[in-house]
Amino acid sequence: MTDLIAIKGVTHAYQTDAGPLPVLDNLNLSVPEGRFCAVVGPSGCGKSTLTRLIAGLMFPDKGEVWLHGELVKSPRKTVGMAFQNPVLLEWRTILQNVILPLEIVAPSMPKAKKEARARELLSLVGLEGFEDKRPSELSGGMRQRASLCRSIVHKPDVLILDEPFGALDAFTREDLWQLMHQLRAEEPFTALLITHDLRESVYLADQVVVMSGRPGTTQYVLNIDLPSPRPIDMLYSAQSVEWLATLRKQIEVAQGRTPEKEAQA
Ligand SMILES: Nc1ncnc2c1ncn2[C@@H]1O[C@H](COP(=O)(O)OP(=O)(O)O)[C@@H](O)[C@H]1O
Ligand SMILES: [Mg+2]
Repeated sequence: MTDLIAIKGVTHAYQTDAGPLPVLDNLNLSVPEGRFCAVVGPSGCGKSTLTRLIAGLMFPDKGEVWLHGELVKSPRKTVGMAFQNPVLLEWRTILQNVILPLEIVAPSMPKAKKEARARELLSLVGLEGFEDKRPSELSGGMRQRASLCRSIVHKPDVLILDEPFGALDAFTREDLWQLMHQLRAEEPFTALLITHDLRESVYLADQVVVMSGRPGTTQYVLNIDLPSPRPIDMLYSAQSVEWLATLRKQIEVAQGRTPEKEAQA
């Protein structure tokens, strides 16, 4: 399998009034085509920065970002993104919001074809009948479903999800987790999910990468060797409980709060 995303020795600092702020330090990460990678790490360790580097919205001071065998040197149209805040445009209907990336990436595609593609996805996520509504007429979970449709409508090489389920209630979140597996089966993609929910990472990913505290580096990689889709009750298996405990411990290390240190304090 070829690596669709390859992050090689990426080091980056932001220039601030107080001087350079190192955010990433020799970060390495690779995601083979069709795989789902989750990235977890303490707040401020550089996760969102990593997503901007992959999308080609900024470039690292040192190291390389490769997508589909090409060095990323400019913004990439073949990346789909979804965020915690769905950022749907209120002056457009749900259908028009989902079509937006096609207007940018495939301007010559006939309008009817764009609409058919968007309708197909909206129906897949259970939003049939809501095509002509405005974003404010939908619940938070429905808006996030529409946002997911928009992020994959142009069949991106890679889907970047930056805490997309973080603002949803627990049950809606679990529904959307299951929807992600369903979407993966119907519309195969390679994904990088940023999350602070360890259960979410174990349920959704094939590989969980734990980033250290800032400057973020690759601290630990856990392989979740399970097929997709997965039953949600896999989260209660002995294996999952063990994985969650391992990740929990790694997060404590990343936060610089190892149990040993706490005992000394
Ligand atoms: N454009 C910027 N200029 C200066 N500092 C920034 C900028 N963007 C983010 N930061 C800082 O860089 C660090 C990493 O940010 P970010 O990548 O958003 O972390 P995370 O997503 O892991 O919480 C944070 O301390 C943040 O305040
Ligand atoms: Mg972030």
